[in-house]
Amino acid sequence: MKRFSLILLMTTILINTSMVQMTEEELDEKVNHLLSRMTLEEKVGQMTQITLEAVSARRGTATQKHRLDLRKLEEAIVKYHVGSILNVYDVAHTLDYWHTIITTIQDIATKKTRLGIPVIYGIDAIHGANYTREATLFPQSIAMAATRNPELVKKCAEITAFEVRASGIPWNFSPILGVARTPLWPRFFETYGEDPYLVSQMGAAYIKGMEGETNQIGAPDRVAACMKHYLGYSFPLSGKDRTPAWIPERMLREIFLPPFQKAVEAGVHTVMVNSSEINGIPVHSDYHLLTEVLKEELGFKGFVVSDWEDINRLYSRDKVASSRKEAVRMAVMAGVDMSMVPFDFSFYEDLLQLVKEGKVPVARIDDAVSRILRVKFQLNLFENPYPKREMKEQVGNPESANVSLEAAHQAITLLKNVNKILPLKKTMNILVTGPTANMRSVLNGGWTYTWQGNEEVLYPRDKPTILEAIRDKVGDTNVKYLPGASFSQLGDLQKVKELAKQQDVAVVCLGETPYCETPGNIHDLTLPEAQLKLVEAIAQTGTPVILVLVEGRPRIFTRVVGLSQGILMAYLPGPEGGRAIADVLFGDVNPSGKLPFTYPRHPNDLVCYDHKPIEMDDPNKLDPLFPFGYGLSYTTFAYSNLVLDRQTFYPHENLTVKVTVTNTGDREGREIVELYVRDVYRSVSPPVRQLKRFTSVTLAPGEEKVVQFTLSRDDFAFWGRDNRMIVEPGEFWIMVGGQTATTRLLPLTEEASK
Ligand code: BGC
Repeated sequence: MKRFSLILLMTTILINTSMVQMTEEELDEKVNHLLSRMTLEEKVGQMTQITLEAVSARRGTATQKHRLDLRKLEEAIVKYHVGSILNVYDVAHTLDYWHTIITTIQDIATKKTRLGIPVIYGIDAIHGANYTREATLFPQSIAMAATRNPELVKKCAEITAFEVRASGIPWNFSPILGVARTPLWPRFFETYGEDPYLVSQMGAAYIKGMEGETNQIGAPDRVAACMKHYLGYSFPLSGKDRTPAWIPERMLREIFLPPFQKAVEAGVHTVMVNSSEINGIPVHSDYHLLTEVLKEELGFKGFVVSDWEDINRLYSRDKVASSRKEAVRMAVMAGVDMSMVPFDFSFYEDLLQLVKEGKVPVARIDDAVSRILRVKFQLNLFENPYPKREMKEQVGNPESANVSLEAAHQAITLLKNVNKILPLKKTMNILVTGPTANMRSVLNGGWTYTWQGNEEVLYPRDKPTILEAIRDKVGDTNVKYLPGASFSQLGDLQKVKELAKQQDVAVVCLGETPYCETPGNIHDLTLPEAQLKLVEAIAQTGTPVILVLVEGRPRIFTRVVGLSQGILMAYLPGPEGGRAIADVLFGDVNPSGKLPFTYPRHPNDLVCYDHKPIEMDDPNKLDPLFPFGYGLSYTTFAYSNLVLDRQTFYPHENLTVKVTVTNTGDREGREIVELYVRDVYRSVSPPVRQLKRFTSVTLAPGEEKVVQFTLSRDDFAFWGRDNRMIVEPGEFWIMVGGQTATTRLLPLTEEASK
């Protein structure tokens, strides 16, 4: 019934907005016509983006309502012709208040300016429309990656797009397509993990969910996506946010570029630039990466927005420009189309002067503005700049919350289960303890209601904490609770031990406080001492310990692994996470998530799964605590009959791979099936394995299914010694679920290519 009403609502909106698809020619004509009527000032204004704070009279807090400064707002839009505004200041708004803000902005833009060009408002809707109070929130991307379910990612993105648009906002600064190669990085949780193929698949699914199957972002339930942060942001040498990366061209192309390339193929409309530098060159000033690679080689047609204040930082922080104005020249000439300034009109003034002095050609300005106007037209903003009030009732509905719960269910990853201690019996006496046991914010992490996500009072109370969800499931009487420790301070251990002694099992919830970006920097990947001591103290009582990890990156807890009988990795599972964890703990849901990263055993052994052969043997042997792709189930699966349709093949031929998966346990389960390829010898040293395909099957006890994959030339290609993509003949291993089959790629002779 609910689904029916949503479809009905969308149909009504679609009819009312008379969505007509524009041809490329019509679009170009509209853009060129408008551009030809614009003054230089109006053009440079379109390239300027400011933050809401710059046009506000008062910040919003949990108890104080935000207020716009109408004088400043009018000055920005009318005098400085500002084309875009972003963000909240500082707390998520209600849907109604978003409508007021957006309506006020668009009234000024469309009625008080000469050409009536609507403003494009941008927001960080990172795991759902997290800056709209009533919205549905989802697990963070790192958890979504553990589901290995692109369809589910797409579904979550569809709901997010609907709820962002319902707020009146047409542009979302998501998805993050950085491949997370260092677990220290505080934005690790915003990524889809350490593998380029996984990130590419999930990222493309997200973009299709956000923008629609045919990228018709003018539809009233879609928004423009913004892939970010291009390129190489996710591999800072120090692990700290916005610090330098050193990434050779081959690695850039092999690891970091593919998700962006796939996103461009998926039709993404905008891109945000890496705030930091690669090989000494801040990306905001990198003509090669922004223009030659992104716009020319990949053929990206949308527009490029800077990250926060990052053009000015070429001067103030990175010291590659000797003045603010020079920084503007460098960035615009490198290919940045819009500056997230974000507080003042310095960019506008500097750029205007630069054009007048002939230091930035008008042609570059016209290119940038055309790209921005294209997206504004494609978003249908000229016809429909205002929020649609009728969408409101579908925001945050129970159906969407169920999708979020399903995502959390599929994400949770069972890492250890000694003697089948899990699932727990609902009749057991249970101690629930640890710093993440009874908080809502920790399940969500950064980008939740505020930037840092750490204002507990803002979290809706109808979404249970882990403790509350366990109580909901098994009743109050069986469950005892003591926090035991805060994130970094021990509580009364004696008391915890006494209580633990009397229980059948202790569920110890460890993890991290919410954070994002630079405030989330750490100096040590190890979980704080207090949390490890808490586990040790409880283990001493002899009561079995189940660890629940609520964290956005793999914090090291090796010391206590042997002291626990069960371990659940919950990641940042979102608002339904408490419920999902309880469902898995008590066996109402059979876990099926797989790690989207390598879980390190030691703080200084941070090597990814696709390492080189030299890291296979002592003394260099990579020895992770849990490998990439690891995850148990309450049932067991066996793999057999891995067969290839060809023992040899030519590069233009496809290779079909079949494998049988059998549920050998006693309950239904979902198994994620992953296919890895190994190039045995090649001219650039090969990784020991690379993920090339994944899918999942749900099997009843005793049931078996044949899973089929098709591989083609690109799956065997790599960046050669001269940094060109090549395939080399020779032996390949195809590996699925512990089985290996070999095949040989033959040299492409003239005879074979006929
Ligand atoms: C972040 C971006 C974000 C922007 C706007 C920056 O600090 O790096 O990811 O989109 O702020 O909020």
